[in-house]
Amino acid sequence: EKGTYPHYMLKEIDEQPFVMRRIIQKYQDENGQLTIDPQIIQEVLNADRIYIIACGTSYHAGLVGKQLIEKWAKIPVEVHVASEFSYNMPLLSEKPLFIYISQSGETADSRAVLVQTNNLGYKAITITNVPGSTLSREADYTLLLHAGPEIAVASTKAYTAQIAVLAILAVATAKAKGIELDFDLVKELAIVANVMEMLCDAKEEMEKIAREYLAVTRNCFFIGRAVDYYVCLEGALKLKEISYIQAEGFAGGELKHGTIALIEDGTPVIALATQEHVNLSIRGNVKEVVARGANPCIISMRGLETEEDRFVIPAVHPMLTPLVSVVPLQLIAYYAALHRGCDVDKPRNLAKSVTVE
Ligand code: F6R
Repeated sequence: EKGTYPHYMLKEIDEQPFVMRRIIQKYQDENGQLTIDPQIIQEVLNADRIYIIACGTSYHAGLVGKQLIEKWAKIPVEVHVASEFSYNMPLLSEKPLFIYISQSGETADSRAVLVQTNNLGYKAITITNVPGSTLSREADYTLLLHAGPEIAVASTKAYTAQIAVLAILAVATAKAKGIELDFDLVKELAIVANVMEMLCDAKEEMEKIAREYLAVTRNCFFIGRAVDYYVCLEGALKLKEISYIQAEGFAGGELKHGTIALIEDGTPVIALATQEHVNLSIRGNVKEVVARGANPCIISMRGLETEEDRFVIPAVHPMLTPLVSVVPLQLIAYYAALHRGCDVDKPRNLAKSVTVE
């Protein structure tokens, strides 16, 4: 039930800190260590390459998961949109392992690929919020999100839960391979949960940003580099699906190769700056769009901020920033849709689970 909340989406955004803490708890062993079923870890160790298959928001979580698995567990990962993969299968490695990411566990496009890879005899893990769902039943293994039912069509808490579970999988694999990591994921996810809480308390500020930048605009761009780019794709999807504003997520450096032609006087450009190694470059990209008249809204991370920034997120582990940087974007999308009189929980033309190919 949504209780005192006006919409499920807002309630589910607010639940994210609790979901983080629940995930830590559910994946902890009796010694407080994060663990994954040893059989699953064995499958990951046997693989020479991981293929993540998903759609929409779950695909965006997969992009972040690729970074985590490659950087921490040192296993190459490819991320594919399910509907493309099934009709245009890439050349596979010798020992592929498939990870299906699906909140509902019922998405037909993802299932179509699972049927194919099962027929080819490859092992599959499903990361889902719904125990007993089709994708869970038909895969060899399941990792649960423990996010609680997600009712709003726009996925929020499932996205952050998916990234958290992928982070746990990456760390557990690194540990099994004897790779030393210089941080404790339990602690880092606890920090993430606290920061999420602070961001959920920043609703007024997010409402102001939505009002200022998005009340009447026709379009909006989200730019970022490295992992911020993936969060920009998700921020743009949230905004377009519930507010019907044409929104695009772009890699900061790619903008000038064509898309910058769309920047006009007043075009809102939301820029994420949470990554130290690309901080100067993304700020350079902001200058490029400002020179063409864009109305910039920079959301940065504590330690990397400058005076021009509109909002600064408290610092978390640099690889875990998507878990927190997405929250302001979710809230901005929510308030933009609200101000524009849209049906936040049930946007037009969309269904919660897409069970047709
Ligand atoms: C966007 C959204 C969709 C889903 C996509 C996959 O907010 O909800 O893009 O992420 O349809 O759904 P699942 O994760 O259930 O496979």
